[in-house]
Amino acid sequence: MAGPLGLRALLLLLLLLWAGPAWRCEACPPRCDCLPQLKAVSCQRRRLTAVPEGVPTETRVLDLSRNRLRWVEPGDLAPYPRLEELDLSENAISVLEPNAFASLPGLRVLRLRANQLKLVPVGAFARLGNLTTLDLSENKIVILLDFTFQDLQSLRHLEVGDNDLVYISHKAFTGLLGLEELTIERCNLTSISGQSLSYLRGLVTLRLRHLAVASLEDQNFRKLSNLRGLEIDSWPYLEYISPLSFQGLNLSWLSITNTNISSVPSASFRNLAHLTSLNLSYNPIAALEPWAFRDLVRLKELHLVGTGLATVEPHALAGLRQLRLLNVSGNALATLEEGAFHSVNSLEGLRVDGNPLSCDCRLLWILQRRKTLDFDGRAPVCAGPAEVQGQVLSAFSDSALFDYFTCQKPKIRNRKLQQVTAREGQPVSFACRAEGDPAPAIVWISPQRRRLTAHSGGRVTVLPGGTLEIRYAQVTDSGTYICIASNAGGNDTYFATLTVRGLPPDSAVYANRSLYAGELNDTSLNSTRVFLKFTLDLTTILVSTAMGCITFLGVVLFCFLLLFVWSRGRGQRKNFTVEYSFRKAEGPVASGTQGGTRKFNMKMI
Ligand SMILES: *[C@@H]1O[C@H](CO)[C@@H](O)[C@H](O)[C@H]1NC(C)=O
Ligand SMILES: *[C@@H]1O[C@H](CO)[C@@H](O)[C@H](O)[C@H]1NC(C)=O
Ligand SMILES: *[C@@H]1O[C@H](CO)[C@@H](O)[C@H](O)[C@H]1NC(C)=O
Ligand SMILES: *[C@@H]1O[C@H](CO)[C@@H](O)[C@H](O)[C@H]1NC(C)=O
Ligand SMILES: *[C@@H]1O[C@H](CO)[C@@H](O)[C@H](O)[C@H]1NC(C)=O
Ligand SMILES: *[C@@H]1O[C@H](CO)[C@@H](O)[C@H](O)[C@H]1NC(C)=O
Ligand SMILES: *[C@@H]1O[C@H](CO)[C@@H](O)[C@H](O)[C@H]1NC(C)=O
Ligand SMILES: *[C@@H]1O[C@H](CO)[C@@H](O)[C@H](O)[C@H]1NC(C)=O
Ligand SMILES: *[C@@H]1O[C@H](CO)[C@@H](O)[C@H](O)[C@H]1NC(C)=O
Ligand SMILES: *[C@@H]1O[C@H](CO)[C@@H](O)[C@H](O)[C@H]1NC(C)=O
Repeated sequence: MAGPLGLRALLLLLLLLWAGPAWRCEACPPRCDCLPQLKAVSCQRRRLTAVPEGVPTETRVLDLSRNRLRWVEPGDLAPYPRLEELDLSENAISVLEPNAFASLPGLRVLRLRANQLKLVPVGAFARLGNLTTLDLSENKIVILLDFTFQDLQSLRHLEVGDNDLVYISHKAFTGLLGLEELTIERCNLTSISGQSLSYLRGLVTLRLRHLAVASLEDQNFRKLSNLRGLEIDSWPYLEYISPLSFQGLNLSWLSITNTNISSVPSASFRNLAHLTSLNLSYNPIAALEPWAFRDLVRLKELHLVGTGLATVEPHALAGLRQLRLLNVSGNALATLEEGAFHSVNSLEGLRVDGNPLSCDCRLLWILQRRKTLDFDGRAPVCAGPAEVQGQVLSAFSDSALFDYFTCQKPKIRNRKLQQVTAREGQPVSFACRAEGDPAPAIVWISPQRRRLTAHSGGRVTVLPGGTLEIRYAQVTDSGTYICIASNAGGNDTYFATLTVRGLPPDSAVYANRSLYAGELNDTSLNSTRVFLKFTLDLTTILVSTAMGCITFLGVVLFCFLLLFVWSRGRGQRKNFTVEYSFRKAEGPVASGTQGGTRKFNMKMI
């Protein structure tokens, strides 16, 4: 938008040589430059406070930028009905009257950049049916009113960036049926209204930059069926992109950069089957999950620059069968394995420079293609191992390849057979320490063929050192466990067996078990009932034991009482028998039982 001064000077020169006689006789305003051939008048930077007198009536291009105009009234431009291009940039215009340009029906380009406009009244652009370009950027517009642009059915480019926009009225964009490009930037909008955008049926490119919007909601862009390119840049608060936010769009390029999204919004890419270029640079995306781009079947270019990317998981780029360019420069990648791609054969360009790359067998595929892949002038550099540190990948000779780009197959240490027998509820652990280069990943396979990794939480987990840990073993945990240590060089396996013995019912351990029932999650066990039963049994035992003791003591006391009475009665009888019948055989009185009855014979001498 900065004045093409060089071009103007050249044109002026041409005109001096060529100038037609007709225009030469016409007046040119004293402080302006006239280009008769183009019917152009330039009065740039002339401290004008009003449209100068003496501008030829048939002028088509009028440049009044960098002056001191303060307003535009309907009469000001009425004498120049042939105007097609009017540049009023960098003035001090704060007021536009309704019908300000209504006398210029042939106007195609109107520039009002860098003025002091706070409000554009409805009707300011009335009758500008042929206007194709309108630049309102760098003003102080706070709100766009309904029907502001109603008559501009030919408008193709609208700039409203760098304003203080807080609100775009729902019907502000009505009538803009021809608009192909819209840029909204650096304003204080906190939401994007799907309804206001829905009038822009012809929109092809939408750029939304430097906004304080925190989330992209469902169907924000619905009805923009002609949109091909969407740029979302520098939204520092953006953290959430709804899966349906791009619904109804058929984009060919999408750029979501410098936001705060921390993962690839895979779900929202579902209907972007025609996308060919995706730029997700400068978002805090540290990992690419498997199949993160599965729906982007026609994607050719993927840019993930400066995201802090540290992990590209196997199959992360699966589905991208047409991928030609991958740009992951300036990240934290130690490697980029061939298994991440759908096929590396489609790849033509690769930028992995600016990553701490470890030059082992995982990068061999890049090395083998170092002569055909286009590194964009920035071939990757090894950050390790020490003997090749700092070497450029494309500089290796063929013979050196297999000296350096090697991996050491994992080897599991301490292969003593682990056979463990445990009681139900006990903790159990199996060690699996493996060595290799690069450091192997440990996976355990359960007897039920479940993959157990450091990510599987719950009762059974794999600790960082590779040890399998089962808290509170269950009978169903019994069986053979397989440890697989694998890296790019291969794998090593190792077996361990576990036998878990069940517990007899009603034993005291059940009390423990009920305490852990939440974690055991054994639905066959009604913990409440077991616990109650246990408590009940203990009470019964205690009570009946106490009863037994009391009755036995009572009988002994009774005997002594009889003895006492007898001794007082002075030997009327010398022999007597006491019978006491116990209901149950329990308590400490065990000897001398006959059926349910015990006899105590006492003889007094
Ligand atoms: C608008 O443009 C069309 C074709 O470009 C032309 O025929 C028409 O006269 C123009 N309208 C005005 C008012 O100049
Ligand atoms: C817009 O935001 C900027 C910076 O946060 C602030 O200085 C300005 O006052 C805001 N404008 C309005 C109209 O809220
Ligand atoms: C971005 O996200 C991180 C963590 O999710 C948060 O701490 C930070 O404040 C966010 N930044 C902005 C500008 O919202
Ligand atoms: C989407 O756009 C592509 C061109 O980019 C076009 O071939 C295709 O037909 C469009 N699909 C729909 C449903 O409009
Ligand atoms: C991707 O986005 C970043 C940040 O906006 C920009 O610098 C870069 O040029 C874009 N890349 C492409 C290929 O458009
Ligand atoms: C890769 O990204 C960097 C940084 O944005 C950029 O300079 C470079 O042009 C990109 N390369 C390609 C091939 O797009
Ligand atoms: C382990 O390596 C063998 C070949 O050495 C391979 O066939 C097998 O698929 C690998 N298994 C795993 C789980 O990586
Ligand atoms: C019950 O659990 C505690 C703590 O876990 C343990 O010390 C105790 O040995 C357990 N009792 C039985 C009978 O298993
Ligand atoms: C417990 O088991 C039930 C049914 O088998 C299951 O739905 C639930 O998710 C389990 N809870 C936990 C914490 O494992
Ligand atoms: C356990 O049993 C008690 C009594 O039989 C019953 O009230 C309770 O609902 C049961 N709880 C569960 C989780 O089945």
